[in-house]
Parts: sequence; structure tokens; C-alpha cells
Amino acid sequence: MFAGQFMMGAQDRLLPPSIPFRFFATAIVFHVAGWAVLLAGADELPGFMGGLGLGLAGLHLMTLGVLAMTAMGAAFQLLPVATSRQLGPSWACRLTWWLYTPGVAVLSLGLASQFVWALHVGGTLVAGGLALFAVLVGRNLLQVSELPGVTRHAWVALVSLAGLAVLGLMLIVDIQGGFLPNRAALAASHAILAGYGFMGSLALGFSYVLVPMFVLSQGVSDRDGRRTAWLTAVALVVAAGGAALGNGLVAGLGGVVGLIAIGLHLRALLAVLKTRMRKRLETFFRMIKAAWLVLPASVLVGLFLALGDSPELTAPLWGWLLVFGWLLTFVTGILQRIMPFLASMHSGANGGKPALMSRLVADRPLLIHAIAHGLAVTLVAAGLLAQAPLLVRAGAASGLIGAVSFTLFAIELMRRYRAHEAANPKGPASC
Ligand code: HEM
Repeated sequence: MFAGQFMMGAQDRLLPPSIPFRFFATAIVFHVAGWAVLLAGADELPGFMGGLGLGLAGLHLMTLGVLAMTAMGAAFQLLPVATSRQLGPSWACRLTWWLYTPGVAVLSLGLASQFVWALHVGGTLVAGGLALFAVLVGRNLLQVSELPGVTRHAWVALVSLAGLAVLGLMLIVDIQGGFLPNRAALAASHAILAGYGFMGSLALGFSYVLVPMFVLSQGVSDRDGRRTAWLTAVALVVAAGGAALGNGLVAGLGGVVGLIAIGLHLRALLAVLKTRMRKRLETFFRMIKAAWLVLPASVLVGLFLALGDSPELTAPLWGWLLVFGWLLTFVTGILQRIMPFLASMHSGANGGKPALMSRLVADRPLLIHAIAHGLAVTLVAAGLLAQAPLLVRAGAASGLIGAVSFTLFAIELMRRYRAHEAANPKGPASC
């Protein structure tokens, strides 16, 4: 299917802009907060092997506050467009945000301060928001028989979400209860299901819609999509199961299957790039390509960890490459493009003169974000390997500069969007 085909009539399936954009705007705020907390807790990161504190709070401000938050906003808007099936009702999408956003803030406070009330209240609100998200997405997917590459990866992500949330809540209750037989093993299984399962499988599946759409190219074949979804599912069961049992060999085997799935996924997307009509790829796509490089590297470091090699080095480096090197680079790269893309689509809804995407985008803050983010990922990785807190602190400071620059891009985008709307009054009242 050619990219343009699922865009036909897409404007009729747009949710009110306040729904996806509230998730994107909140992700941008948590992005700044996450780097600021990591900067404050930089000394904790070298040799980090889990445990409450600023390190874990910063990690979840990024994973829940930026990665999952963006995935929710994107899924709510992208699935009805890609599957031509309604997703809603809108009030339920908004309720998801009202439950989840304060939950992320309170849970992060609990992870930083060890306040038991904050851990329990925050964890419950987060789990509630994620559960409602899963129900709304599941209802959409149940109506769809085509697009197997997207829908099967989305189902793998939803099953992983259930697993990560149950393990996450067990890890919280265990802080006081102390009932878990092997906390570190379950924390590692939680991280695998969360990073490669929920976020990872969503990223792989949505790439089959987003990449052809952004570069104007042929889509990925259903056969390739089905194959990577199945291999991802097998890899997750073996890796997360092996980790939960504390069996590095089995977890490592899952990693090897994962590498095969990643190889097939990247091969399919590189073929898409070869047949693209949009030749010049902007800053956002350089971030996506960088993320594609870090993904297999994160699995390789995970293999070293699973085989028990210097865990004080490999464990924090694995978590860093998985969450910051791959997922955060990919998700903020996508955000760089999906926000002006959606704003331009909404500006044309109801008969108004659509704003050109290029007119809505300020390139410099995006470039500063990309460079500062790349520097942050590299400096912190070097600091974790060299066990040098100063390098980690410099990296976190660079990450914060990048996050602030990204915020300036978003503020300017909103300013230009509003200026365009004011200058081009629409037809009958919009939503
Ligand atoms: C319901 C949502 C979640 C809850 C309640 C939760 C809770 C927790 C807790 C309590 C720990 C600490 C384990 C320890 O003592 O070290 C932890 C570790 C972790 N979480 Fe989450 N989490 C959630 C979602 C996520 C998501 C969505 C991601 C990633 C996309 C994530 C990634 C991680 C990672 C990488 C670790 C470190 C694992 C380790 O120490 O080996 N979490 N989580």
C-alpha cells in the first residue's frame, strides 16, 4: 500500500486536536523534568543496579512521562487514521490523560522520595490510565483484519503492557512487603517487557505506517510485518521469562531471536527508504536512523549482561542504550515531525486554508535538540563505562539543553499555528 492511500479521508478521522496534543505537550514538560532529575541524581547512575532514588525517578519520568505519554497520544490519533476504524469515545481518551498524568508525577515523587503513599497512589493512577488506554486501543484493533504488521505489533505491545504493569506494581508493593524471591530478576523482566515489549513493539509496528508516510514511499509488505511481530513475541517470552527466572542463558537466547526480528525490521524499512519520493530527509530522520543503530547495540550489551559479564558496567549501560539511546531518540525524532504534520492537517480541517508544514517548523531549535541529545547519550554512555560521574553530569546537562530547545520549538509551532488560524478564518464552527 502506498503511503498516500491511508491518508485519503484521514482528516475525517482526526480526533479533536486537544486530545493528541495534550499528550505531546505533557511529554515535552516531563522531558525537561526527566533530564533535570537525572542531572540532580547523576552521581547515582554509574554502577546503577536499580533501587529507589533520583536515578529511578528520572528514568520513569522519561519512560512513563515521555515515551508512554507520546505513544498514547500518537496511538489515539494514528490508529483511527491507519485502520479507518473509530477509536474513542473522546471523553475516554481525555480521562486516560486525567488519570495517567498526575499518576506519573506522583509515582516519580514516590520513586525519588520513598514516600510509600506516593508510590501506591501514583502506581495505581498510572496503572489505571494505562489500562483504559489498552481497552480503547484493543477495541479499535478488534475491528481490524488488515494491516497485520501494525495490528500484530500493537497486540504484542498491549500484552507486554499488562505484564510490565503487574510486575511494576509488584515491585512497588515489595518495597514494604519484601515478598519477592528475586527482586532484581523481576525488575529486569519488567524492563524487558516495558522497553522492548510495550514501547518497542509499538515503535516497530507504528514505523510501518509512519516511515512510509513521512518519506512518501511504498509500505512494508504484510508478510514482513507478520514475521517481525511473531519473532518479537517469541523473543519477549523467552527473554522476559529467562530474566524472571534469573536464567541468563535463556534470557540471552531471547536476545538472539530479538536480533533476528530487528534485522528483518530494519531491512524492510531500508527497502522503504530506497523507493521513497521525498529525497531530502530532515533532522528528525537523522534521529530515527541513529535510533535504528542503537537498537541492536542495546541488545548486544543486554547479551553481555545476561551472560553475567561485569554487571556493574553492563546493567546501567544496557538500560541507558535501551531507554535513552534507542527509545528516547526514536520517540523525540518522531515528535519532531508528527507535531507539525498533525498541526498542518488540523489547520486544513473544516475547509480552512491548510498551513504548510514547513512554515510551522523552526529548524534551529530542532537541530540544537538533535545535537544536544546525541551528545547526552554519548557522554552518559562513556561515563557509565568509565564510572565517571562528571561525564554523566555533563551528558545530563546536554540532555537538558536539548529538552529546553525542543520546548522552544513546540512553543514556536503553537504560535505559528495560532497565527495561521487567525489569519485564515475557517468555514462553519470547528470541534
Ligand atoms: C505501571 C507502570 C510502571 C511501574 C509501576 C514501574 C515501577 C518500577 C519499579 C518499582 C522499579 C524498581 C525496581 C528496582 O528496585 O530496581 C522499576 C524499574 C524499572 N522500570 Fe519501571 N515501572 C513502570 C513502567 C515502566 C515503563 C513503561 C518502562 C520503560 C519503557 C520502565 C522501565 C524500567 C526500567 C528500565 C527499570 C530498571 C530495571 C532494573 O533495575 O533492572 N518501567 N519500575
